[in-house]
Parts: sequence; structure tokens; C-alpha cells
Amino acid sequence: MAEYLDRIGAGNVLLTKEPLSFDWVPPRLVGRDSELGELASIFMGIEGDGVSCRAVVTGNVGSGKTVLTRRFYLDLSTKLEGRRKVTISHVNCRNHPSTSQVLQQLALSLDSGHPERGFSSGEIIQGIRRNLKAHNNHLLLILDEVDVLIRRDSSDLIYKLLRIDEGQEEGGSVSLILVSQDMTLFTLFEKAVKSRLGASNTLTLNPYGPDDLVRIARQRYEASCRPGSVSDGALNKIGSFASDAGGDARMALELLEAAIRRTEKDGRNEVTEDDVHPSSIREASVEPSQVDDLSVHQKLVLLGISRRLKKADEVSSGDARKLYELVCEETGMKAMGYTTFWKHMKHLESEGLIVRRTSNSNRGRGRTQYITMPNTAPAVLEARIERDLIG
Ligand SMILES: Nc1ncnc2c1ncn2[C@@H]1O[C@H](COP(=O)(O)OP(=O)(O)OP(=O)(O)O)[C@@H](O)[C@H]1O
Ligand SMILES: [Mg+2]
Repeated sequence: MAEYLDRIGAGNVLLTKEPLSFDWVPPRLVGRDSELGELASIFMGIEGDGVSCRAVVTGNVGSGKTVLTRRFYLDLSTKLEGRRKVTISHVNCRNHPSTSQVLQQLALSLDSGHPERGFSSGEIIQGIRRNLKAHNNHLLLILDEVDVLIRRDSSDLIYKLLRIDEGQEEGGSVSLILVSQDMTLFTLFEKAVKSRLGASNTLTLNPYGPDDLVRIARQRYEASCRPGSVSDGALNKIGSFASDAGGDARMALELLEAAIRRTEKDGRNEVTEDDVHPSSIREASVEPSQVDDLSVHQKLVLLGISRRLKKADEVSSGDARKLYELVCEETGMKAMGYTTFWKHMKHLESEGLIVRRTSNSNRGRGRTQYITMPNTAPAVLEARIERDLIG
């Protein structure tokens, strides 16, 4: 019998997978009430015919830009039901990076067939406007990762969309939300676009702190797993690592999913701190060139560890510290204090260069950690860093 297949649907921990997917939009966002409120105030009056609104949303990777705009338009369309007809089109410009591809997506969401060939973007946009007016419809267009489109095709399309009603009797055809990681999005815009967008309509999402990230991970766990199956220790570890990695909610979800998978695979029914492996969620193997982006002291820490791991399977954190001090001596650098040293270790771990494991036995007061390098060859890193720092 194919008993190994019993794992499928065994569900010691997991009840339903859907809420773990990145695309799942939670009924309530964690810690973004004031940002949603701000967006609502930018869209004040949207229920009235003839009104259109514009907003720009920026923030770092995983700060929740996409899910915030999704939650917003889902709530908005419920709110507008029976008041104003609105079609929502959410286009990710990374997947549709050219003006004509974006226009094609628009036509698809308006069900108006493919734009015919041979027309200029201006003509197609006026066609879209006629379609909207004929059906007494309003278009809310969200251009996600819009910097990809602007870098490729300039902000011409956006300019034209902003001016869609200019010179017409009736306004209110299209509302726009532009989303971008790039804080310098505005510098990519030409003056004419800038003045039409208005800087006051910009919403910046701050990176999440550890508490928010724990709550985000908890929300997903509660929506997808058996009650009590993910320990607080695991959630806290996820929160602190995702916070160190820049407040990236996607990383928190990746860590959670991988930890659940690991627990299920072992046939256990509780996800513990030890199931959270921050280094294993990114690429399984790291490119040696990744080392080049490290700071000098990060390189020195890594050099000490690499030298030992050429000969041993693992190195204790205490030894890693001593090896680092030796390497500093050798290169004539002053060793950094403990706090900085640990910061560097965490960074090396988040880059996937090292993996840390806390020992079960607590010798002494501080917990000893063991470091391994499963994703790369220590000798290769050693040679690369030596060439770079020692010459
Ligand atoms: N406040 C939140 N509450 C619940 N889930 C969240 C929250 N913020 C982000 N998430 C979840 O974290 C993941 C990453 O968020 P999202 O994709 O919105 O980030 P982003 O800012 O668009 O990232 P990128 O810059 O890479 O496009 C998504 O699965 C999202 O649902
Ligand atoms: Mg996004």
C-alpha cells in the first residue's frame, strides 16, 4: 500500500490551506486601520456620479500594499452597491508591463473585447470612456507595481488616464490607485502627472514591527490550522525574524507555512519554535556572490565560521565569536561588541548563508547555539572573502 500518501490530507495541524496563500485577503487587516481610514478619506465623495479619485500607495516589500488595496476595493464595492456602478480592475504591471498590455487588461475587465489593433493608446482610452459612459459605469483602476510600467513605457498612459475626462462635459470616468515599492515613484513622473496626482494623496505604509508580524502570522494560523497547533514560541520567532528582515509580512507567512509543513511531515501535531527555520525559506543554495554585498564585519564573522566549517560539521556560537576575534586580529580590525556581532549573525542567517540551531541542553546561563552552513560550501566562501579582504 502506498502508505506514504497518508500524509496527504492527514492534517495533524492543517485544516485548510487557502488562508496560507499569499493571495488570500483576510476579512480584517492587522494593524492597518488608520491607513485604510486615510484611503477612505482620499476617496471621499466617490459614491457621487461625476466624481473620480486618485491615490498613490508606497511601502517596502511585504508591507501589505497589495492586500491593503484589495481589502479596500472589496469593502468599497460592497459600500457602493446600489449607489454607483463600479467596475474594478486590478492590474499587476510586473505581469503586464507595457501600455498595450495594461489596456488589454482594462478591456478584459470591462468585457469590451480586445482593443483593436492600429489604434493609439489615446484612442483606445477614449473608447474605454465611451463604453463606461454608455453603461453609466465607473472604473476603479489599480495599477500595482506601477514603477515597472513607468520605467518601461514612461508615465504617458497614466497621464492620459488622468486626463480622460478633460474637455468633456461629464467627468468621473476613472479612479486610479497607483501602487509601488519605490518611494521615489514621484521622481519617475513628469511634472504634469505629478501636479494632477497631488502629493497629498500619497499613502506610505511603514514596515511592520514584530508584534504586527506575530498577529499577521497568528491570523493565518487561526484561519487554517487546528486550534492550539502552533505554539506562541513559534509565532514569536516568526515575528522577530520577519521584523529583522525589514518588516516583511510575506516572509512571516513563508516561515509559518514551512514550519507547518515540517511538522506535518514528521507526523507531529504542534508547531514549535524549532520548526521555524528562517534560513531555509529562501533559495536552498546561495550564490557565493551574495557575500560581496555584506559589510566588512559581516564578512569577517562569516570568514571565521567558514574556516571552522571546512573541518567541522558545526561551530558553537561561542567559538564563532572567538574565531571572529581572531580574524579581526589578523586583518588589523577592531572587533565589534556582542550586540553588533549577533546582529551580523542574524543577518547572515536571513541571507541563508548560515543556519543556527539552539541546543536542547542549556549549558550555563546563555543558550548555546550551533551554526551550520548547509546551503553553500565553506571553502568557497572563505576563498572569496579572503580574496576580497586580505588580497
Ligand atoms: N496587515 C496585514 N494583515 C494581514 N495580512 C497581511 C497584512 N499585510 C500583509 N499581509 C499579507 O502578507 C503578504 C504580503 O503582503 P502584500 O503582498 O500585500 O505586500 P506588498 O507590500 O504588496 O509586497 P510587494 O512590494 O512585494 O508587492 C500577503 O499575503 C498579505 O496578505
Ligand atoms: Mg504587492
